[in-house]
Amino acid sequence: MEQSLPYDNRIDSESSDQVVNPWEVSAKDGGKIDYDKLIDKFGCKRLDESLIDRVERLTGRQPHKFLRRGVFFAHRDFNEILDAYESGERFYLYTGRGPSSEALHLGHLIPFMFTKYLQEAFKVPLVIQLTDDEKFMWKNLTVEESERLARENARDIIACGFDVTKTFIFSDFDHVGGAFYKNMVKVSKCVTLNKAKGIFGFSGEDHIGKLSFPAVQAAPSFPSSFPHLFPGMDKLRCLIPCAIDQDPYFRMTRDVAPRLGYSKPALIESSFFPALQGENGKMSASDPNSAIYVTDTAKDIKNKINKAKSGGHQFSEDQHNLGADLEKDIPFKYLSVFLENDSELELVRKQYGEKKGNMQTGDVKKRVTEILTEIVERHRRARAAVTDEMVEAFMAVRPLPSMFE
Ligand code: TYM
Ligand code: TRP
Repeated sequence: MEQSLPYDNRIDSESSDQVVNPWEVSAKDGGKIDYDKLIDKFGCKRLDESLIDRVERLTGRQPHKFLRRGVFFAHRDFNEILDAYESGERFYLYTGRGPSSEALHLGHLIPFMFTKYLQEAFKVPLVIQLTDDEKFMWKNLTVEESERLARENARDIIACGFDVTKTFIFSDFDHVGGAFYKNMVKVSKCVTLNKAKGIFGFSGEDHIGKLSFPAVQAAPSFPSSFPHLFPGMDKLRCLIPCAIDQDPYFRMTRDVAPRLGYSKPALIESSFFPALQGENGKMSASDPNSAIYVTDTAKDIKNKINKAKSGGHQFSEDQHNLGADLEKDIPFKYLSVFLENDSELELVRKQYGEKKGNMQTGDVKKRVTEILTEIVERHRRARAAVTDEMVEAFMAVRPLPSMFE
């Protein structure tokens, strides 16, 4: 069952061991984020094997490594999306980015890479919201600067390989208005101040811009916000891939949807790509020490990985006799997200994580450095190929006639 509102994030942050909301992700005292607890608290469900098998059957292709490896681990009503799809209904995808920094980091690539896979596997349209307004209100940025960052970030997103015939990217500064705005005010009217305080931890010191923002992030969950894309398709269901920090926005959205006569958006949620220093937080763009950026050079990546928190032993004898603590090993975590080959990963797990193995911390760091460097370099090339015209094309308000083909 869905957890009933209000769920108080703020009290949680004061009294217990972990905080997870759109603005902060941290576990106490260097502990790990407890994802089981988060699922319970938030009231979502674990993404189990049987759902992943269904994805395989319905799409006729191997499920993405982020599904096989549990990077995407939680959902809301994803089973219903699959039921509908199985009976011939279609859906659309919605994801987004808050343009707070020039460069994306590897953690940001996760939802976009995964969304691209979903778009291809299910052959469905996608809307991507750039919340330049959100970052203006939360960060020390001018309107113009947030707007500029949104465009820069759009290039990175396009570089992930989305299909322009099925993808609409928009910034809030450009697109809020008309049907979109009507949905915003409908949502706003359903959420009391008390409820917003409960879900988001707002206080009397926060400016009213913050209070009004969640309705902006809610609106794209409803197809009627995009009359140029989904005319007469008010029942079209929406699936939102994101990391679980965004869940509060969509708990609110799902709570109000039935009162507006709309379907609740479904979600598929990932854990956090951990910070270089360890799993008590997320890789975050606002903390340069925590993150590998898509703009980092091969040398930067090598240095950062060398300093990353390791679960291995310093002396090779200890390493051989004891094996590394993979739960604490950031290079291994990164490898388990980005290494394509399942059997190579299994080999590393054995040879590095178990007793009597013959891999050292240095070997794992070297391998992950290679893989991340390749990803970042591929991204850099793809981004360099994104022209202003392409950005215009993705952001043009237009119908997408072959969006379900
Ligand atoms: P933003 O820009 O903070 O993050 C963009 C997306 O990346 C995810 N993310 C991560 N995933 C894995 N590991 C990490 N370390 C990590 N850090 C961030 C976020 O969960 C998000 O999916 N308010 C949003 C923008 C937004 C949005 C949406 C996001 C608007 N509508 C709909 C998802 C779905 C934001 O500031 O995201
Ligand atoms: N669940 C696996 C683990 O914790 C894989 C995983 C999920 C993961 N999310 C991740 C690994 C984020 C690294 C980063 O090991």
